[in-house]
Amino acid sequence: MKLLASLALLAASTLATPVAPRAPTKEFKLKTTDSTISEFNNLYLYSYHTGAGLSDGVFSSNATAAPKFSLNGTTAYADLGTSFLWGVEVNGDTNYAAWEPVTINAGQGEAEFAIQDGNFVYSEEQGFAGWLVCPWYHNAPQLFALIKYYDPVIPSSCSKVTLKAVY
Ligand SMILES: *[C@@H]1O[C@H](CO)[C@@H](O)[C@H](O)[C@H]1NC(C)=O
Ligand SMILES: *[C@@H]1O[C@H](CO)[C@@H](O)[C@H](O)[C@H]1NC(C)=O
Repeated sequence: MKLLASLALLAASTLATPVAPRAPTKEFKLKTTDSTISEFNNLYLYSYHTGAGLSDGVFSSNATAAPKFSLNGTTAYADLGTSFLWGVEVNGDTNYAAWEPVTINAGQGEAEFAIQDGNFVYSEEQGFAGWLVCPWYHNAPQLFALIKYYDPVIPSSCSKVTLKAVY
């Protein structure tokens, strides 16, 4: 139901410009705020190439290098300048882990993302309990999704963050 409310909000916020129904929303970059670790604030999400058509969601302070994202319905895509789509994916509650990496992979992506009060979120019904940033194996802060069915013991080097959509 929360998701429906946010979709209604989204629809309302696009009323100002005449757009065709189903047109993807305006593009935005995703920027961190609300971290208790100050160096994790004001970072932009970008895709760290990990294989053909595969990448991890990693952060950089360089806004220029960060790709733009968009929502088509509730599917989130990154515009990596290719002719095919790159979908944002939260790898859900599949392995009894308290948080899961966020990937940006070539393909149709995954539904159930939304922008709520200006922030990019995933569906609570799918187990989302917020975003987590940790310094990880790409030698950069990396994006994870907390899974609400577990009580996370968050390492002190990690922090919860809010992902703000910057238009
Ligand atoms: C930021 O990224 C742009 C585009 O990739 C690059 O040209 C620029 O040198 C980068 N700036 C810094 C400070 O790394
Ligand atoms: C957006 O979603 C609609 C409905 O699923 C689909 O027909 C359309 O091709 C999608 N557009 C893009 C740009 O992905």
